[in-house]
Amino acid sequence: MSTSFWINGEQQTVDVDPSKPLLWVIREQLALTGTKFGCGISQCGACTVHIDGQAMRSCVTPVSAVEGRQVTTIEGLAQASGELHPLQQAWIEHQVPQCGYCQSGQLMSASALLANNPNPTDTEIDAAMQGNICRCGMYGRIRKAIKQTSVASQGEEQLFYSVAGVTHE
Ligand code: FES
Ligand code: FES
Repeated sequence: MSTSFWINGEQQTVDVDPSKPLLWVIREQLALTGTKFGCGISQCGACTVHIDGQAMRSCVTPVSAVEGRQVTTIEGLAQASGELHPLQQAWIEHQVPQCGYCQSGQLMSASALLANNPNPTDTEIDAAMQGNICRCGMYGRIRKAIKQTSVASQGEEQLFYSVAGVTHE
């Protein structure tokens, strides 16, 4: 059975079991391997993507659930020009990635947070990010990078997020 949806600005149609998790369709059918498998039971956040702008766990989302919807993966977070998302720039500046395995999910959760709440408090950051596990323990750096990218630090014009290849300012 085929399912059609938009991913990083491109329409894709896949012919797979509709119950197949979106994570595995992204990785196997679409060869976008930036989205990681950690637990498979919605507990670690490694597989986080945006669906219609909201952070969602792709390991427990059947592909049929995204029919006609907009999906963004880590490969679609930067602008089409290649300019990094401000969070990606802050991630580099604060040397957030260590082993790197959790980082796609962290960035997708953080970018959805800032898109919906451009000036989060520490408490709001912790609440939004608590489901993203980092076995390297980079939680402090993640919070600093998010704070640096928030409207309070950068000004509203600096904040953008990308959904399906479209940049919103
Ligand atoms: S792999 Fe999806 S939450 Fe862990
Ligand atoms: S950077 Fe290693 S698990 Fe997060």
